[in-house]
Amino acid sequence: MSVRRLAAEFIQPKDFAFTAENTDWAKGQIAKYPPGRQASAVIPLLWKAQEQAGGWTPRRAIEEVAAMLDMPFIRVMEIATFYTMFNLAPVGRYHVQLCGTVPCHVCGALDLKKVCEERIGPQSTVSADGKFSWIEVECLGACCNAPMVQIGYDYYEDLTPENFGKLLDDLAAGRPVKTGSRTGRTCSEPQGGGTTLTEASLFDGSQIGAWKKRFAEEAAKPAVDAPAAPAPAPAASSGPAVPGAGGSVHVPQPPAPKDLPVAPAGSPIANAVPADEPGADHAPGESSGEHAESEAVARREEAEIAEKLKALPKDATALDKANAVGAKPKGLEAAREGTADNLQRIKGVGKVNEARLHDLGIFHFDQIAHWSRAEIRWVGTYLSFPGRIDRENWVGQAKILAAGGDVGKKPGESHPDRH
Ligand code: FES
Repeated sequence: MSVRRLAAEFIQPKDFAFTAENTDWAKGQIAKYPPGRQASAVIPLLWKAQEQAGGWTPRRAIEEVAAMLDMPFIRVMEIATFYTMFNLAPVGRYHVQLCGTVPCHVCGALDLKKVCEERIGPQSTVSADGKFSWIEVECLGACCNAPMVQIGYDYYEDLTPENFGKLLDDLAAGRPVKTGSRTGRTCSEPQGGGTTLTEASLFDGSQIGAWKKRFAEEAAKPAVDAPAAPAPAPAASSGPAVPGAGGSVHVPQPPAPKDLPVAPAGSPIANAVPADEPGADHAPGESSGEHAESEAVARREEAEIAEKLKALPKDATALDKANAVGAKPKGLEAAREGTADNLQRIKGVGKVNEARLHDLGIFHFDQIAHWSRAEIRWVGTYLSFPGRIDRENWVGQAKILAAGGDVGKKPGESHPDRH
């Protein structure tokens, strides 16, 4: 590394002021930081000053930046003299930053340095034709492709004295040059090409095609054979939607074990098996047949809702979306007689969803029990899980609970909200 000092006084311009355009730009940068933290914009402002001054940072520019940021001159000076990205003296049209740190050094940076000295001249001087200058810098973060140089904003890697010399020739002659590796490797892959993940099928789409086919086959099965576990709604899904299936079909879940005790259909107690218990294949409050029907309804609703939401602008709010697909249920100002039902007794409703339902004026089981289809769509979409209310049979559970029945979730027992 060389000593970094400001250029001699006779080289320094007498004045420096940002152009009107750059002043506006600088103000925009400063505004990104809270009051009292304007100093955080020092590097972008110095960079812009260097760009305006023709590739180097004169003393007057450092003073201008210090004044704009209300910083002592020495603080800005420390920064300008520390980072080699700031050139303290005029540079050539092509300013070569040659990495001399260990990985580049052991891969031949010294030979490149000789090329610079022979072709351009001593470090930190401009060639006679004004086209080139060079400095040695610390690691530029492309060690995998060492040795390397940065010229202007571009990196040139895997250099040898020969190809580096040709690069300088091309630049001097104004011929187009290729950036990146001189040996043709992609990014930082090993010399000679990749040695892992080489199987062509990983990249030709055939493996994904096989999965797509499996998903499509599963999705085409009759609803009664549909997977038992509730699938998340598209908007809130963390699992992959099946490509090419309209975004409404989800990764099939394994079917529930078949050897569970079978309870009489319609019995609230029998039907009260929480759907998240091992082996449960339907939501509380519904039989297996009803569950299949709910699943089919949920899927249809998801597809229809997704289609309608597509027409909305990207920044549509949850309310915009809900209003586009359904009707808001009538809420209450407050719970009747000051006491809300414990909505968390509905499987699928935990603390968070209960609070969100309260915000909508829903405090009682009988309110949910009377939701129309349009209202189910509205609430499901507003809470970002269209289809889930049907899958978990909130309405059926609410009917049982409103009638004093039980769905198997103890009063006060919390159920984690899922989205
Ligand atoms: S050591 Fe040269 S780029 Fe890192």
